[in-house]
Amino acid sequence: MSNKISIRGGKPLKGEIHISGAKNAALAIIPAAALVKGVCRLENIPNIVDVMIQLDIIRGFGADVRFLNPTTVEIDCTHIGCQHPDYDLMRRLRASYYFIGAMLGRVHKAEVAMPGGCNFGGVRPIDLHMKGFEALGAEVSIKEGGFVCAEARDGLSGKNIFLDVVSVGATMNIMLAAVMAEGQTVIENAAKEPHIVDLANFLNSMGADVMGAGTDIIKIRGVKELHGGTYSIIPDQIEAGTYMAAVTATGGELLIKNIIPRHLECIGVKLEEMGAEIEYFDDSVRVSRYGELHRTNIKTLPYPGFPTDMQPQLAVALCMADGASVITEGVWEARYLYVDELAKMGAAIHVDGKVAVVDGVGKLTGAPVKATDLRAGAAMVIAGLAATGETVIDGIVNIERGYEDIVGKLRAVGADISYVTDNDPVTLKAV
Ligand code: UD1
Repeated sequence: MSNKISIRGGKPLKGEIHISGAKNAALAIIPAAALVKGVCRLENIPNIVDVMIQLDIIRGFGADVRFLNPTTVEIDCTHIGCQHPDYDLMRRLRASYYFIGAMLGRVHKAEVAMPGGCNFGGVRPIDLHMKGFEALGAEVSIKEGGFVCAEARDGLSGKNIFLDVVSVGATMNIMLAAVMAEGQTVIENAAKEPHIVDLANFLNSMGADVMGAGTDIIKIRGVKELHGGTYSIIPDQIEAGTYMAAVTATGGELLIKNIIPRHLECIGVKLEEMGAEIEYFDDSVRVSRYGELHRTNIKTLPYPGFPTDMQPQLAVALCMADGASVITEGVWEARYLYVDELAKMGAAIHVDGKVAVVDGVGKLTGAPVKATDLRAGAAMVIAGLAATGETVIDGIVNIERGYEDIVGKLRAVGADISYVTDNDPVTLKAV
């Protein structure tokens, strides 16, 4: 049983990496399949823990799920309707909340466990989702034991809904509930992330009428029912961005394949400021860094701003730069739990609320560290690749939640990285 990752760092990365399907798109599209009375064939499914949990949850609602090959899955929701899925599974990931919107849309009733997911060190409310469902005509309550119950006895009716905070989850959840509601729903101040467009494209290809996804006004005209079909999920923006940040931190050159260039521009701009060279092709990007790394400032914002899910990875690259950089977290209340772990490797980062000042130290030293959440875990991997000596990362299930075969992909481009077990208490041994 492998439960840690060991990295002997200090080697430049060189070669090609293939990007998997987008986690956050797949996590919304799988519940969306529950709206379809028929078979959805989903291609480019990432093989990651969160997706496997989401597929297990939909099985619990009565779906028939089968893989045709490692990246293609068929979900048949013809006979869906069981109201008692595995609540423990639901608590393991945030995106289980998409089953509220999807089940409300399909059977006008949903009961799900309060969602879990990454703990960034602050609150992660779902009040906007609940207000949206209520606006569409559902009664929503939180029951003892941490359950969210929603029911629309008279069905759902389209409404104008203004989100007072730009929320990815609320935008997609309301979209799911509204697709088969009576009449038109308009979501104003909607989030514009690539996975929102992907969910809308999926729904439209199954017969929905969703317009404006990718802008801040989304219009959804309710349809009677959705039909089955085949859909290919977009590549993962954050996985690609993580490898772009990794090669910027370690030096070297990577050709990152199966990407959508415009999704990566907000990340590439910052890496260029730091000294990386970036060349975009139709569906790939070449990132190289041979010279010095320079300081820069970063503010995370909803798309098309710099993504909060790239903030920890960039912080590591900034540790390797000269001078002081300022990071401002503009999406979450706080997202700096990883800073204490990086300090063990010699990083000098000072946090004050939403702001972190990264004093470039030019080098990091290997140490035992923890992956405190998914992107924090990715940051530890980059730190280990850039550091001198050995880094051993604990809590790697957090990494496996969102990165397909990260060890194999990095080994293929020259990293000295392997899984290790606890079985050898003296020196951790590669298996
Ligand atoms: C999704 C991503 C997560 C990413 C985040 C922002 C998934 C599974 N997760 O999370 O990786 O970091 O988008 O890009 O796709 N908010 C409220 N009330 C709500 C909902 C959100 O106040 O009901 C606030 C949050 O506290 C936060 C902001 O809105 O400050 C953005 O959150 P949101 O976009 O909803 O994040 P998630 O969809 O949970």
